[in-house]
Amino acid sequence: MAKQNHDFFKEKKPWSEVKDELLGCYLKPYLQKILHTKHPVVYVDCFAGKGVFEDGKPGSPLIALRTMKECLEQTKMENCDIQPYFIDVNYAEDLRRNLHEFTRVNIVSGRYEEQITGMLSSKNGCNVFLYVDPYGIKALDCSLFDAFASQRFNSIELLINMNSFGFIREGCRVLGVKFGEDEFMKDLVEYDSTQLTADEKSKNALNKIAGGNYWIDIIEKKRAGEITAYEAEAEFANAYCKRLRESYAYVLNMPLRIKPGQVPKYRMIHATNHPDGALIMVDNIFGRWELMQNIQNEGQQSLWDEGVENEIVNEAEIEAKVIDHISQFTSLTRMNPVIADFYCICGVICRTKTVKEIYKKLEKSGKLEVQRTPSTTATGRASTFFADEKKQMTKLRWRG
Ligand SMILES: C[S@@+](CC[C@H](N)C(=O)[O-])C[C@H]1O[C@@H](n2cnc3c(N)ncnc32)[C@H](O)[C@@H]1O
Repeated sequence: MAKQNHDFFKEKKPWSEVKDELLGCYLKPYLQKILHTKHPVVYVDCFAGKGVFEDGKPGSPLIALRTMKECLEQTKMENCDIQPYFIDVNYAEDLRRNLHEFTRVNIVSGRYEEQITGMLSSKNGCNVFLYVDPYGIKALDCSLFDAFASQRFNSIELLINMNSFGFIREGCRVLGVKFGEDEFMKDLVEYDSTQLTADEKSKNALNKIAGGNYWIDIIEKKRAGEITAYEAEAEFANAYCKRLRESYAYVLNMPLRIKPGQVPKYRMIHATNHPDGALIMVDNIFGRWELMQNIQNEGQQSLWDEGVENEIVNEAEIEAKVIDHISQFTSLTRMNPVIADFYCICGVICRTKTVKEIYKKLEKSGKLEVQRTPSTTATGRASTFFADEKKQMTKLRWRG
C-alpha cells in the first residue's frame, strides 16, 4: 500500500524508533572508538528528512547530533573533528530550522545520488559513515557503494535501509511474475514506493540497485513455484549482503518485522571493513531486538527465545554452526575477524558472548588453540581473556 510522503513525518512510527535506535546506539561506541584514530570523522545522513517529527520525536539528524555532542563532551581525545552533513531533496529548510541549536552543521538541499560523490571527493583520509535511509529503493545505486569502498578514506561504513520486500515486488512486476502473498503485506505501508514496468530499462534499473542480475534467478524460482515471496525476500537479502561483501569485508543485516512471520518492513544493512565495527553492531542488533519483540508482541513476552529472523533459537544448532565455521581456521588467526565473518555467513543468531563461550568450551576440550598476548597476567598467572584489541590480543587455531 503506497502512502503520501508528507504523512511520514506526522508521527514517528514504532519501526522508525527501532531503526533510529539501531543508528543512535551504534554511533556512540563507533565514535568513541573512531576518534582514537585522530582522523576527522565525516558523518552523512544521505536522506535526512526534517530532523524532527511533527509529534516532537527526534528524527535521525537530531539523534546523530545529540550522540556526537555527548561523545565530544566525554572523550579525552584532543582536537576531535566531526563533520556532520545532512542531505535532503525536500526538507533542507526544515532541517535548518530544526537543527539550529547545533553549530558546524552542513545542510545540503539536493539529491543524494547527485551530491554524494562531489561531497566526499575532498574527504580522503577521513573516517566516513553514511546513513542511507530512503523511502524506497530507487536511489540505492550499488556502484556508488562500491566506489566509496575504493576511495582513500581512513575507514568507510554504511548503514542502509534496504526495502528488500519492495525489491522483490518490483522484480516480479518487471519479469511478469505474479507476486500474490497479500496476507504478508497488510501492514506494510510504504512511502514513495517504486513502481516499475515490465521492460528492459526497468530490468537495468534493478540490476543497478542489486549490483548484478543475480536477483533474476530468485524471481524465476518464484515463478516456478519453488519458493514463496517470503523466501524470495530472504534469499534476495542474503544475496545482496554477499554482493556488498565484494566491496566491504563485513556485511550484517537486521530484518525489522512488524509482526512475527511477516515479510520484513525493512532490512537494516551494515557494511564495514572493520571487524570491531561489525561486532559492536551484532550486540547492538540484539539490544534493539528486545524493543522490536515488544512491538511485535504488543508488550507481551515471547514464549520462546527467538533470533532476529524470528527463528526459534536452538543452542545446539548455534554451537554446531560455530564449530563448523571455526574448524576452517587451521592456522592462527585473529579472533575478531573470525567472529565477524561468522555473523556475515550465519546471520545474527546470537550475541558475541555466546560465540566466545563456545570457544572457551572448545579450548577446554583441546579442540581449539587459543594464543593470548600477553600470555600472562600482571601476577604471573596464565591469561584467560577472550578479547581482541590493542592491549589484549587473541588468536585462534582449530586443532580438531
Ligand atoms: C525515510 S525518510 C528519512 C527519515 C529520516 N532518516 C528520519 O529518521 O527522520 C526519507 C527522506 O528522503 C528524502 N528524499 C527522497 N528522495 C531523495 C533523494 N534522492 N536524495 C535525498 N533525499 C531524498 C525525503 O524527502 C525524505 O525526507
